[in-house]
Amino acid sequence: MSIHVFDNPNQLYEKAAEQIVTIGREAITQKGQFALTLSGGSTPAGVYNTLAQSFKDQLDWQKVYLFWGDERCVVATHPDSNYRMANENLISKISIPSGHVHRVASEEDPLLAAQQYEDEMRDFFGIYGSGFPEFDLILLGLGDDGHTASLFPESEALHESERWVSDNFVKKLKAHRVTVTFPLINHAANVMFIVSGSSKASICHQILEEKKDYPAQKVQPKSGNLFWFLDKEAGNKLKV
Ligand code: 6PG
Repeated sequence: MSIHVFDNPNQLYEKAAEQIVTIGREAITQKGQFALTLSGGSTPAGVYNTLAQSFKDQLDWQKVYLFWGDERCVVATHPDSNYRMANENLISKISIPSGHVHRVASEEDPLLAAQQYEDEMRDFFGIYGSGFPEFDLILLGLGDDGHTASLFPESEALHESERWVSDNFVKKLKAHRVTVTFPLINHAANVMFIVSGSSKASICHQILEEKKDYPAQKVQPKSGNLFWFLDKEAGNKLKV
């Protein structure tokens, strides 16, 4: 695991975008493709924008395949949609084949959407039995309650050990979500948390230094690299 703390949000976005491109170029060189899972919420918007504005020509988007680590169960045009956020900040600004953008069918029944999404991932990776895919990079955010993707404290999906994608009812939000599971995350070649803002300082300290048992603590890639990219505000309570 490596922890990187940057002076301000813009530098965080820049460095995160740079690291995404580095990993992507390596994957394309090695395998001819880059399977990237996007995170949601608000923090990644700056990263996606930076990717589109400053790094657009540094990645062969024809060889990039986009997935989402989680999605709210709303239509794709809804303000809360993680797809909409990524589309506005990145996808609409790059020339990526539409067939390479694997959106969660978030307008469907959550269980169906999760099953369909897992099927779509299985078709992409050609894995239909047991075992998990190796995404080249999975981006993750961090909630101040220690959730990541839509793996919230005390939610059912925290315990999923077989499925790649799960529907998950989040009591505190009174809402269903679709989320990748920990086994899928932990089989990735690279996992990158991108965390910004003073509201995350305490949870970052509790997870990274006190090792408290929040959901994000379960992100421990089996053989992949784990990056924590923070801005100074989010890293403000870290001792190191
Ligand atoms: C989501 C995200 C979630 C997010 C954190 C942080 O769909 O909400 O995937 O895990 O990354 O809640 O969100 P912010 O970046 O908005 O603080």
